Amino acid sequence: MTASATGTATRICLHAPAPGWSIDADVVVVGSGVAGLTAALRCTAAGLRTVVVTKARLDDGSTRWAQGGIAAALGEGDTPQQHLDDTLVAGAGLCDESAVRALVTEGPDAVRRLIATGAHFDTSSTGDLQLTREGGHHRRRIVHAGGDATGAEVSRALVEAVRAAAVRTIEDALVLDLLTDAQGRTAGVTLHVMGEGQHDGVGAVRAPAVVLATGGMGQVFSATTNPSVATGDGVALALRAGAEVSDLEFVQFHPTVLFLGPGAAGQQPLISEAVRGEGAHLVDARGTRFMLGRHELAELAPRDIVAKAITRQMQLDGTDHMYLDARHFGAAMWETRFPAILAVCRSHGIDPVTEPIPVFPAAHHASGGVRTDLRGRTTVPGLYACGEVACSGVHGANRLASNSL
Ligand code: SIN
Repeated sequence: MTASATGTATRICLHAPAPGWSIDADVVVVGSGVAGLTAALRCTAAGLRTVVVTKARLDDGSTRWAQGGIAAALGEGDTPQQHLDDTLVAGAGLCDESAVRALVTEGPDAVRRLIATGAHFDTSSTGDLQLTREGGHHRRRIVHAGGDATGAEVSRALVEAVRAAAVRTIEDALVLDLLTDAQGRTAGVTLHVMGEGQHDGVGAVRAPAVVLATGGMGQVFSATTNPSVATGDGVALALRAGAEVSDLEFVQFHPTVLFLGPGAAGQQPLISEAVRGEGAHLVDARGTRFMLGRHELAELAPRDIVAKAITRQMQLDGTDHMYLDARHFGAAMWETRFPAILAVCRSHGIDPVTEPIPVFPAAHHASGGVRTDLRGRTTVPGLYACGEVACSGVHGANRLASNSL
């Protein structure tokens, strides 16, 4: 099927229905998590007519659910080199070092830009950023907000900034396919708008640049920390458009997800690694710490090692969960440092102040995805990818905790 777009012949992949309406832009951003909204703000600031298309509401992606925080070498004595070393170890020798170097050197300024955009991170009484630890980090370098609600705060600030900058957004819109011109260059997207609004039904946003920022694919697994929208649409679209994808087998399992029973499926509540960063212990049903002696960092070993150790211990004991014991935090610390996790545990009848939390590993983050270079370019001209849908090589085989926001 062919259609006309700004004077060039346009090929529509597969059997997408003909668009009933179309709008023109310079860039379409597909997805509205931290990566998509940041890209949209930068494009708009550069004077590009930018349209954000998102499958649900602007703040419905995975970003909102992120608890732990953002890793950046901001603490006294910490350096980008130490952050790089920790990232390479967690990545099990499969990171692209130039991508990691970009992350660790540009990270501190990216946090400052988020603050300038309006995000409020937790600070000490002297006004310095509070920093915590998570698995695989040898230093306290995780910035957080609202105790354990970092993603929600980042999402709030970016959504407000996008609205203030009057970026055009189309919500409740499923992107169907990439449009390409006769030379195989990106020419926009077709989409199906499901909500009430200016446009509905199948349409097109025509633009010479498309940024995929559609997040992960956790819903492919029976139990995941990802919201229902994380169904891998970006990777599917990129594959249909002929883009290269890589490392899709590197799906990270978060070690500590609240165990709600053997039948629990879909999105499950996360118990942030920051809880272990602040001193919680992993124990078996007898209360014995099983990470001691398994790794020099014990409960704070890189995430793949902890998830595997929990799985092994579950197999040895013939059970479907282990426990995270943080009773020694006391009620006051639970209430101030981890208020959201405390509330979700209590809503399921578990009180972390008085009892260990039942936990098990569940699918959490896609380290692979649509192959990009360090400018976010995919192998299809004009098609870019960023955030969890992208594979720049920064995460290697296993993402270091809090290296994604
Ligand atoms: C967590 O809070 O444990 C999740 C952080 C992350 O996945 O980077």
